[in-house]
Amino acid sequence: MPDILEIESELGIDTKAAIIEPVQHPVLAYNGIHLHIKRDDLLHPIISGNKWRKLKYTLLHALTKGHGHLISMGGAYSNHLHALAYVGHKLNLKTTGLIRGEQPVEDNQTLADLKKWGMNLEFVTRGEFRELRKYRNHDAKPAIKYDGFWIPEGGASHEALRGVAEIVKEIELDFDTLTLACGTGTTLAGIAKALPNSKRVLGFSALKGGGFLEKDIKKLLHTKGMPNWSVNFDYHFGGFAKTTEELISFIKEFQSHNNIPLEPLYNGKMLFGLLDMIKNDRFKKGQTIIAIHTGGLQGNR
Ligand SMILES: Cc1ncc(COP(=O)(O)O)c(C=O)c1O
Repeated sequence: MPDILEIESELGIDTKAAIIEPVQHPVLAYNGIHLHIKRDDLLHPIISGNKWRKLKYTLLHALTKGHGHLISMGGAYSNHLHALAYVGHKLNLKTTGLIRGEQPVEDNQTLADLKKWGMNLEFVTRGEFRELRKYRNHDAKPAIKYDGFWIPEGGASHEALRGVAEIVKEIELDFDTLTLACGTGTTLAGIAKALPNSKRVLGFSALKGGGFLEKDIKKLLHTKGMPNWSVNFDYHFGGFAKTTEELISFIKEFQSHNNIPLEPLYNGKMLFGLLDMIKNDRFKKGQTIIAIHTGGLQGNR
């Protein structure tokens, strides 16, 4: 049986580095809110944030079953494929990435890294990509087609919840609310599962029209209700991977108060939304909020 602690050490994952830091911002003092950030971006320079949390037990499952070929899907800037390719490279596993859209004439830095780390890349049409999203089981159609172990988009598998739950276990500070950015909602589901109903987790959708999110989260949690979680859909800034001048200047302003790197796709949007909600008195005075930094800084390139 592979030992997950040995694998973490081989990859250089450092959970002790993912500290909780206080956030400085004029809005916080004015509105009486204590905001901290859990620096999961510091887990590892490449497999950072929720990428490792989601992959950890999925990888263990694959290795336990004796699989040496991991297959997944993502966009041309995918943080998930970036982390997966690196894991494959370090652990000597074959990896295949099914990428949305046409092959670009010139590789961006994410694609160049995937190739450098030996991932086989296959570009699929948008229609085919949508079709691939339906496959959630490790032995689904793409596993058979490419002869390996299938990991759904964004690492959204059931084993991912167990890895994400470890974020909650590491938090020693008392808090009222956790916040994080959502794509597939898997990270939020893992947090919600680990939280008692006296605390809550608030997700910020990075996608426009992310109405599927609540449905997908309920499916992952096998529940109909939302006892300790909710998703805000107001801060997507035009949709996935879209940014605005307002968002970019917010990130610069945030970084003038805090030495915390942010990217505009997920964490920048989440913190903008959170501080805007605080400014608009959407949280009770005196609350302690911990925002989870989900990494993804490679996207900044
Ligand atoms: C940096 C970053 N933050 C947040 C998310 C959203 O995570 P999830 O898909 O689990 O909702 C992603 C995508 O996986 C991501 O790359």
